[in-house]
Amino acid sequence: MFSCTKKPPLGQSQSLSEKIIYDGSANAPRSARGAKTVRRVGGRAQITSTKWRPFSAWKDPGGGRLAGLEFFRADRSFTPMGFLYEKCVRPMLFRFDPEFDHERAVEAMAVLGAVAPLRRMLEMATQLTAGRAQPIECMGLRFPNAVGLAAGFDKNGVAWRGAAALGFGHVEIGTVTLLRQPGNDRPRVFRFPKQEAVINRMGFNNQGAEAVARRLARMPAPGARRIPLGINIGKSRAAPLDKAAQDYLGSFELLADHADYVVINVSSPNTPDLRQLQEEHWLRELLPVLTNANRARTASGRPRRPLLLKIAPDLSFPQIDNVLSVIAEFGLDGIVATNTTLARPGPFAAVNQAGGLSGRPLRARSTEIVNYLARATGGKLPIIASGGVMDPVSAGEKLDAGATLVQIYTGLIFSGPFFARDLARSLVARQDRAFGF
Ligand SMILES: Cc1cc2nc3c(=O)[nH]c(=O)nc-3n(C[C@H](O)[C@H](O)[C@H](O)COP(=O)(O)O)c2cc1C
Repeated sequence: MFSCTKKPPLGQSQSLSEKIIYDGSANAPRSARGAKTVRRVGGRAQITSTKWRPFSAWKDPGGGRLAGLEFFRADRSFTPMGFLYEKCVRPMLFRFDPEFDHERAVEAMAVLGAVAPLRRMLEMATQLTAGRAQPIECMGLRFPNAVGLAAGFDKNGVAWRGAAALGFGHVEIGTVTLLRQPGNDRPRVFRFPKQEAVINRMGFNNQGAEAVARRLARMPAPGARRIPLGINIGKSRAAPLDKAAQDYLGSFELLADHADYVVINVSSPNTPDLRQLQEEHWLRELLPVLTNANRARTASGRPRRPLLLKIAPDLSFPQIDNVLSVIAEFGLDGIVATNTTLARPGPFAAVNQAGGLSGRPLRARSTEIVNYLARATGGKLPIIASGGVMDPVSAGEKLDAGATLVQIYTGLIFSGPFFARDLARSLVARQDRAFGF
C-alpha cells in the first residue's frame, strides 16, 4: 500500500560514524555550508567542531559552473539569479497588488511552457546534469528532484510546463472543483515581506473540472511528461457537506486520466465547512467513494492513480491519528502536509485579515506535523511536505523529519522563478555531503 524508496533521512542512519546533520529543530537554522561536524560516540551524537567554510571554498551544487559566485547569508544561500530577483525585480513587483503579480507570473509561465525553443533553452539552464541528478521513486512515479510547486499557483493547469522548465520536479495543479467558481471577493491575497509570509482567502477560484480536463487533454499525457503532474481536487462551494463525496467524485472522474497523482484537498480554510471533511465520519464517507472509483479504473483497463490527502496544520495530534487510521483503512497512497494555517503567531495576532497564513511563520508547525506523521507511520507513508519551505535549510529540515518530497509556494513569491532550481541543487549537494559522495 505505502510505497517509496529514498535514501534514509539524515540523522536516522546509524551506520555513519561521522556526518553532517540537522538537529530537526525548526528554530535552528544552519547553513549547509557552515554545518557542524557531528561524531557519533557510543550511539550519541556529539558536536566536535563548527566549521564555517570560506566563501571561496564553496562549489556550485549544480556542477561547478557558478563556483565562487554564490552569495551567502546566515541561514540561506543565494545564487546570482536569486540575488538579482531579490534586489531588483522583487521591489518592483511588490508595488503591485499580489494577485495582479500572480496572474502575470502564471501568464509568463504559460508562455514559457508553450513556446518550445524558449522552454528548451530554460530546461538546459535549469536541469541537474545527468551525473548529479538524484531522482526519487515514489508511489510508482519518478520525480527528477525533490522540489515541487504546491497547489494554488497553477489553479487551471495552464502554467505547469513552464514550471517544469524552471526546474520544478513536480507540479500540483488546482485546487480544481467540479463547478467553475469565481472565489471570494478581491483583495484576497496579502503579502508580509518582513515576515516572508502571505495570507490568502482565494476560495478555490478556478475554471472547473471539465475545462481543466479539456486543457490537459491537449497537453502531454501521463507517461509522456518530464515531471509528474498532481491534480488537487476540492469541494465546490455550492455543494453541501452531505453531497461532498459526489462532488469530489465528479472531479475525479473527469481529471484522473490526466493526473499522475490526485490530491484530495480537505484542508483549505477559505471554503466554508471544508475542513470538517477531515473529521473521521466525513472521511469515512468521502474516501471509499474515491478509492472505489480508483479501483474501478483498473477493471476498465485504465491505471489506478495514487491518491493522497492534504491536511491542515491546525489539526491536533489525536485528530491526525484518526486521519491516519482512515487513510490506512482505505489504502491511500500518501499525504500532503500541510495546507495554510488559521493560527496567527507572533505579530500576526494583530493582523485583521481572514484567510490562511503561509510562508516562514508556518514552517515550524508544518515540520512538526511531518515529523509526527513519519513516526506514526514508521516512515512507510509517503509524505509531501508543504509549509514554510523558504530556503535549503527549511527544505532539508522537512526531509529530515521524514518527508519524501517538498513543495513551495510562498518561497517562490519571495525568492523568484529560479528558486526551485536552486533549492533542488542545494538538496542534491546536501545529500552528497551527508553520504560522502
Ligand atoms: C495564494 C495561495 C493560494 C493557495 N491555493 C491553494 C489551493 O487552491 N489548494 C491547496 O491545496 N492549497 C493552496 N494553497 C496552499 C499551498 O499549496 C501550500 O500548501 C501552503 O501555502 C504552504 O506552503 P508555503 O508556506 O510554501 O506557501 C495556497 C497558498 C497560497 C499562498
